[in-house]
Amino acid sequence: MWTKKHVLGINDMSVEEIYIAMEKGKEYLKMIMKKPEVIANKFLDRVAVNLFFEVSTRTRMSFEIAEKKLGMNVLNYSAKNSSMVKGESFVDTIQTIDAMDVDIIVIRHVEPGTPIKAAEMVQASVINGGDGAREHPTQALVDFMTIWLRGIDFKGLNVAIVGDILHSRVARSEINGLQKLGAMITLVGPPNLIPADLMAKKGITVSNNIDEVLAEIDILYILRIQKERMVQAFIPDKEEYFKRYGIDRKRLEKTKDNLLVMHPGPVNRNVEIADDIVTDKKSVILEQVRNGVAMRMGLLELLLNNRTEGE
Ligand code: CP
Repeated sequence: MWTKKHVLGINDMSVEEIYIAMEKGKEYLKMIMKKPEVIANKFLDRVAVNLFFEVSTRTRMSFEIAEKKLGMNVLNYSAKNSSMVKGESFVDTIQTIDAMDVDIIVIRHVEPGTPIKAAEMVQASVINGGDGAREHPTQALVDFMTIWLRGIDFKGLNVAIVGDILHSRVARSEINGLQKLGAMITLVGPPNLIPADLMAKKGITVSNNIDEVLAEIDILYILRIQKERMVQAFIPDKEEYFKRYGIDRKRLEKTKDNLLVMHPGPVNRNVEIADDIVTDKKSVILEQVRNGVAMRMGLLELLLNNRTEGE
């Protein structure tokens, strides 16, 4: 049923593969709580290398926890303590690591397409942990699983993605997957933070006024303002941004009772989301994080079993 060697983007995943990943994640969510001893030795002799060339808390740690819960040997690569400091290239680094007979390489890199390039050079299975503003497939799968586990039907689901869409790899993976699953997408933000290619995409609605969309939506997916990726002053004033697009109590009160507030993290409190909304009963931000470990365990199992079958 699962034939993929790598997980490089939602773009190249079918609806069936998304559901297989969510089912596996759900299985692991139950097993983590009820039968941790059953999974603890599952992949004892397997090796995972986490190669993060960019900072991360959620993705890096949840992969590490997922790998360790499955009994894998885990190595965390640090560029500043590696021979890259002595001038070794990315290609040589990847091929050197791969030559040590590793099973899984998780890569986060600022350059879009780096995990694809790596996958072409290695025998290991590559998982994209976020590449530039291109894709963040495991974050999207975690988010889909979080929605799906609440019994929500994707068909006709009205999702607003709000904020810095231009610099967001998460937004691209969410849009790709949610459209495949049958959801309707509205992109909301300042005109200069919504890229032209997404505006022109079939089935996408665009709004520059958050207050116009609040009453109609089922999911409010808030994005972080990515200060580190802004090469020019896209948002001259944080206070002004919060006033125009920030989600506060007054805005949340305009939404449906069963609306879910989602955010991939890390949040900029009182820039895109008010302090008290982060932990509001409509917010599933920490649930997304919790589901992240189980979803990644599920993906690891799918890839590792596929490697065994292929041997
Ligand atoms: N959501 C996400 O990718 O967070 P990190 O940058 O902390 O991994």
